[in-house]
Amino acid sequence: MNSGLEDVVAAETVLSDVDGEGGRLTIRGQPLSALAGRKAFEEVVHLLFQGFFDDLPDPEHLAAMLGQARTDVFDRTRTLLPVLAGLPVYDAMRAALAPMPDGITLDDALRLVAAPAVLIPALLRQAAGQEPIAPDPARSHAVDVVRMLDRDKGGAALGAYLVTVSDHGLNASTFAARVVASTQAGLTSAVLAGLGALKGPLHGGAPGPVIEMLDGIAAEGDAQAWIDRALGRGDRLMGFGHRIYRIRDPRADALKAALRTLDRANDRLAFAEEVERIALVALRQRKQSRVIETNVEFYTALLLEAVGFPPDSFTGVFAMGRVVGWIAHAREQALTGRLIRPKSLYIDEQARAA
Ligand code: ACO
Repeated sequence: MNSGLEDVVAAETVLSDVDGEGGRLTIRGQPLSALAGRKAFEEVVHLLFQGFFDDLPDPEHLAAMLGQARTDVFDRTRTLLPVLAGLPVYDAMRAALAPMPDGITLDDALRLVAAPAVLIPALLRQAAGQEPIAPDPARSHAVDVVRMLDRDKGGAALGAYLVTVSDHGLNASTFAARVVASTQAGLTSAVLAGLGALKGPLHGGAPGPVIEMLDGIAAEGDAQAWIDRALGRGDRLMGFGHRIYRIRDPRADALKAALRTLDRANDRLAFAEEVERIALVALRQRKQSRVIETNVEFYTALLLEAVGFPPDSFTGVFAMGRVVGWIAHAREQALTGRLIRPKSLYIDEQARAA
């Protein structure tokens, strides 16, 4: 039995390819290096949505539609905020997305892309006792998110992050979204499935614990001792290892490059690089049968921290980028008209016991 479905091909996709041996991510024919830090998030939304919505306009017009969607979502968000008060960001996001219309149009899709971008800054401000800042549809998506956080720097770095995590083959959350879409449920249902799968620490829940690890190491002042103790207990080091990559995750370097554009991140980055170096040596020594390299979540944690997001919002911010991939995959799957319905192997416990 292959309970993790390793190497099982469960979908055909034109959206992205993860080359685990070569350490390459290709999104619609373009290497990640040609997209992250080079293309606006909106352009990548356009790239991923092509062929899945009949009425997809040119990229410029799509960016304007996404800006308008942020404004539409903001009005709804404001009325929801009192009900969401006190909930952790991820739980509030799940609750806020659930009642959205479960359609399959471009408008439905753009509202779902806009929702996390508007909701997270509003929730963070509410937690600090502040009023939400309304979106500015004329700004780029990432710059507007940073503006809604009441920050003036970090838009370019956040844009590079959102592009970097926009799609990544048949990862757990994307697969969950495709399974739901295969039943011909709408996009909100598919996105909620993706969001549910993203939460766990083996997938999108890792970057918060990366900060805990870095803070724990900083407090102790001895990375080697902290890491040896964690591995000695059998813990996994968050931000390391991957099901597909047998070489460094190319997204880690894309994010590191984006981080370097934020001056205030430099000291933390130098510290994290030292922790990474010690962790990789320790992992190589202890796990000789498995190549364990740095994954996207390690530098995600640093980048989102430097932009101004608190650790408990990191999984939600991941969803802010990955929602585009979930939607494109959901459309691609639904258009095949084929229900995903594998088999299970029944173990007859009574016959076994007899
Ligand atoms: N730290 C320590 N040991 C590890 C790590 C890690 N980060 N990752 C894998 N291992 C070890 C396992 O303990 C196991 O060791 P064993 O054979 O001695 O029992 C061996 O490597 C193989 O592990 P698997 O679970 O088979 O590897 P898998 O392909 O399922 O793991 C995963 C992928 C889940 C990402 C894993 O590397 C992990 O848990 N990493 C930490 C969490 C994390 O960073 N998640 C984010 C992933 S990126 C993303 O989803 C966006």
